[in-house]
Amino acid sequence: MPYCGFNFLLYVVTILCMNLLCAESFHMNKCVETDLQALLKFKNALILGRNDLTSWKGEECCKWEGISCDNFTHHVIGLNLGPINYTKALRGKLDSSICELQHLIFLELSYHYLEGKIPHCMGSLGQLKELKLSGNKFVSVIPSSLRNLSSLQTLDISYNYFMFSNDLEWLSHLSNLRYLDLSYVNLTLAVDWLSSISKIHSLSELHLYGCGLHQVTPKSIPHLNTSIFLKSLNLGGNSLNSSILPWVINVGKVLTNLDLSFNSLQQIIPYDFASMAFLQYLDLSDNELHGNIPKSFRSMCQLKELRMHSNKLSGKLNDNIQQLCSAKNGLGRLDLSDNPFERGSLPDVSYFSSLDTLSLRNTNVVGILPKSYVHLSFLTNLDLSHNHLNGVDIFDGEFLSTMTTLDLSFNQLSGSMPLLEITKLASLELLDLSHNQLSGPFPHTMGELSSLSELLLTSNKLNDVINEVHLSNLSELTILDVNQNSLSFKLSSDWVAPFKLETLYASSCTLGPKFPSWLKHQGELMILDISNCGISDSFPKWFWNLSSSLQYLNVSHNQLNGPLPKSFTSMKVKFENVWDFSFNNLNGSLPPFPELYALFLSSNMFTESLSSFCTSLSMVLTYLDLSSNLLEGQLSNCWKKFEMLQVLNLAKNKLSGKIPSSIGSLRHIESIHLNNNNFSGEIPPLTLCSSLALIDLGDNNLQGILPMWIGSHLHQLIVLRLRANKFQGNIPTSMCNLSFLQVLDLSENNIIGEIP
Ligand SMILES: *[C@@H]1O[C@H](CO)[C@@H](O)[C@H](O)[C@H]1NC(C)=O
Ligand SMILES: *[C@@H]1O[C@H](CO)[C@@H](O)[C@H](O)[C@H]1NC(C)=O
Ligand SMILES: *[C@@H]1O[C@H](CO)[C@@H](O)[C@H](O)[C@H]1NC(C)=O
Ligand SMILES: *[C@@H]1O[C@H](CO)[C@@H](O)[C@H](O)[C@H]1NC(C)=O
Ligand SMILES: *[C@@H]1O[C@H](CO)[C@@H](O)[C@H](O)[C@H]1NC(C)=O
Ligand SMILES: *[C@@H]1O[C@H](CO)[C@@H](O)[C@H](O)[C@H]1NC(C)=O
Ligand SMILES: *[C@@H]1O[C@H](CO)[C@@H](O)[C@H](O)[C@H]1NC(C)=O
Repeated sequence: MPYCGFNFLLYVVTILCMNLLCAESFHMNKCVETDLQALLKFKNALILGRNDLTSWKGEECCKWEGISCDNFTHHVIGLNLGPINYTKALRGKLDSSICELQHLIFLELSYHYLEGKIPHCMGSLGQLKELKLSGNKFVSVIPSSLRNLSSLQTLDISYNYFMFSNDLEWLSHLSNLRYLDLSYVNLTLAVDWLSSISKIHSLSELHLYGCGLHQVTPKSIPHLNTSIFLKSLNLGGNSLNSSILPWVINVGKVLTNLDLSFNSLQQIIPYDFASMAFLQYLDLSDNELHGNIPKSFRSMCQLKELRMHSNKLSGKLNDNIQQLCSAKNGLGRLDLSDNPFERGSLPDVSYFSSLDTLSLRNTNVVGILPKSYVHLSFLTNLDLSHNHLNGVDIFDGEFLSTMTTLDLSFNQLSGSMPLLEITKLASLELLDLSHNQLSGPFPHTMGELSSLSELLLTSNKLNDVINEVHLSNLSELTILDVNQNSLSFKLSSDWVAPFKLETLYASSCTLGPKFPSWLKHQGELMILDISNCGISDSFPKWFWNLSSSLQYLNVSHNQLNGPLPKSFTSMKVKFENVWDFSFNNLNGSLPPFPELYALFLSSNMFTESLSSFCTSLSMVLTYLDLSSNLLEGQLSNCWKKFEMLQVLNLAKNKLSGKIPSSIGSLRHIESIHLNNNNFSGEIPPLTLCSSLALIDLGDNNLQGILPMWIGSHLHQLIVLRLRANKFQGNIPTSMCNLSFLQVLDLSENNIIGEIP
C-alpha cells in the first residue's frame, strides 16, 4: 500500500523531527547537569556581595553571566568573568570544582580578589587554550601540573604578588604556548628560567616584569637552543646585567616590543642590538648604559618610541640623536632625560617629522630655545626642564599651535613672561615655567589659553596684580601653582571663577587682607596653600565646608584670628591629610579634628587646657605641633592610642603636672619637645621609644636623677637637652653608649660628680 506507506513514512519523519526539535530546544535551555553542579560549587566557594553573579541561578547555566557553551554538546567551554571594575570584584577561593568543567577552553578570572591556591587539578583541563588569572591575591606556588595543559596558548598569572615558582621546567612542556605573562610572580629561585623558556618554540609574547629573575652567566647562553621568535618581550625590573643581551638579540629577530627598563645593563649598547630591525617600542630606561647611542641604530627605522632615560649616556646630545632613523612615520616619542650628556645647545630635531613627544629633562642643555624649534608644528609634548636654558627665541606666528604640554621648569629663564607669544599656544594644557627667574608682569594673554589645565609658575619673580581678566577664560584650569612670587590677587568679592581648581598653591602671593571669597565656589579643592598671603581676617563659615575635602591645607603665616569651629564636617578623604594653621592669631579651644596625618597649630593663642585633647585627635596622627601657644593644665595619660606619632611638639606653653607615663608607649616617636613649660616630677621611662633622636625637656621643673635607661635604650639619640631643671646626682656611665649624640645640654641642674 504505497499510500499508507507514504503516510507512515511521513508520520515517522514528523515524529523524528519533533523529537529532534524537542531535544534541541531542551538542550538550548538546560546545560549539562555535571557542569551546572560544578559551577554552583565554584560559586558557593566565593564570598558574594548582593550584586555578584545574580544571573547564576536556575537550570540554564549557558545563559549565565560569563558562561559560554558549545553549540552542539552544550558543555561549558568558557568562563569569562573579568576584567570587570573593582567594585564588582569577586572574593574568596577558586574552588577545585572548576576542574570538573572538563570541556573548558577559556578561563578568564583576572582582577578579582581570589585568594588561596590555584588548584593542582587544573592540570587536568586538557582542552584549555586560555588561562588568565592575573591581578588576584593567590598565594603559594604555581602548580607544576599546569605542564599537562598541552593545548594552552595563553597563560597569564601576572600581578599575583605572593605567588612563586622555584623552577620553570613545567613551562617547557607547553608546546603550544604563545603568550606568557608571569610579571610580579616571584621567580628568584627559578635558576632554569632562561633554558625552560627557550624550549617553548611557539612562544611569541613573553612578560616577566619584576620577577627577580636569576642573573644569566655568559656561559649559559650559547648552549641554548633559541630558535624562538618573540614579537614582544618584557624583562624589565629584574636587575639583569648585560649578559642577557646576546640572548635577547638572538630571539629578537622579529621583535617589535622590547622592555628592558629597570635592570642593571652596564657598558655600552652593543652594535648588533640594531639587528632587531623590527623594533617599534624600545625601553632601556633606568639602567647604567654608557657611551653613545651606536651608529647602527640608524637602521632601526620602525622605531616609534625610544625610552632611554636615567642611564649614563654621554657625548654630545646632538650626535646621539643623529644616530636615530629620521624616516617619515618613524620616531614619535623620544625620552633621553637624565643622562650626563656633554654640555651643549639643543639638538636639531627638525627632521624627525613624526616626533610628537620629546623629553630632554636634565641633559645638560645650555643656551636658548632656538627658532628651529619654532616651526616644529608636529611636536605636542616638550620637556626641557632641569637644564640651563637662559632664553627663548622670539616665538612668532604659528609656533607651537599644536603644543599641549610644555615644561621649561628648573632652567635659567629670565626677563618678562611674554617671552612666549602665548596666544598662539591655543592647545596648551600644561605650562610649567616654575623655578626660573621670570620677572615682571603676568601677561593678559594668559587668559586666552582656554585649554590650559595646569599652570605652574612657582619660584619666579613675577610681580603683578592678577585680576579677573587674567583668569576669565581659563575654564579648564585645575592646578594653579604660583607659590613664591610677588603676585597680588585683586578679584572682586562676588567674582565666580570659570574653573574648578583641585590644587592652588599661592604661598607668598598677596590674597588678603580679606579672606579670598572667590574660594567659596572652589569645592573641588584638595590642596590649598595660602600661607604667607597677608590675610588678616577670621575664617568665613563656608570655609569649613570646603575643608572637608582638603588633604593639604596650609594657611600658616597670616594674621588669621578668632576661634576654629566647634567641630569639622567629616573628611571625605582619609589618611595623609596635612593641615597647617601655625603662625596666626587663632584663639579659643581646640576642637575635635578629623583624621589627620599631620597637624601644625604652633605660634597661635590657643588657650584651653589640654586635658581633653586626646579624644579630639585621631590615631593616625604622625606629626603634632602645638608649640608656642597659651595651653595650660595637665596632660592626660592617654597617649597610648597615638601609635603612629613620630613628632610631638608641645614646647613653649604653660603645661604643668607630670609628664604622663603613656608617652613611653609611643614606639615610633622620633622627637619629643616639651621644653619651656612647667612640667614637674620625674621623667617617665621611655625605654620603648627606641627611635628617639631628639628629647628636649629643658626649662621645666623636672627632678630626680638622670635615668640609666637613656643610655641603655635610646641608641639613636642625637640631641638630649635637659637644661634648666632640677635634676640631681651623677651622669650615668650608660650615657657613653650614645654613639650618635651630638648635643648634650645638662646645664643649670644640680648634677654632681665626674663626667664619665
Ligand atoms: C554558537 O552559536 C552562536 C549563535 O548562533 C554563534 O554566534 C557562535 O559562533 C556559535 N559558537 C560556536 C563555537 O560555534
Ligand atoms: C563599576 O560598577 C559599579 C557597580 O555596578 C558602577 O556603579 C560603576 O559606575 C562602575 N564603574 C566603572 C568605572 O565602570
Ligand atoms: C598530568 O599528566 C600526567 C601524565 O600523563 C598524569 O599522571 C597526571 O595525573 C596529570 N596531572 C593532572 C593534574 O591531571
Ligand atoms: C652578569 O652576572 C653574572 C652572574 O653574577 C656574571 O657571571 C657575569 O659576568 C655578569 N655579566 C656582566 C656583563 O657583568
Ligand atoms: C632545537 O629546536 C629545534 C626546532 O624546534 C629542534 O628541532 C631541535 O631538536 C632542538 N635542539 C635541541 C638540542 O634541543
Ligand atoms: C575670552 O574668550 C573670548 C571668546 O573667545 C574672547 O572674546 C575674549 O577676548 C577672551 N578674553 C581674554 C581675556 O582673553
Ligand atoms: C606651610 O607654609 C609655610 C610657609 O610657606 C611653610 O614654611 C611650611 O613648611 C608649610 N607647612 C607644611 C606642613 O607644609
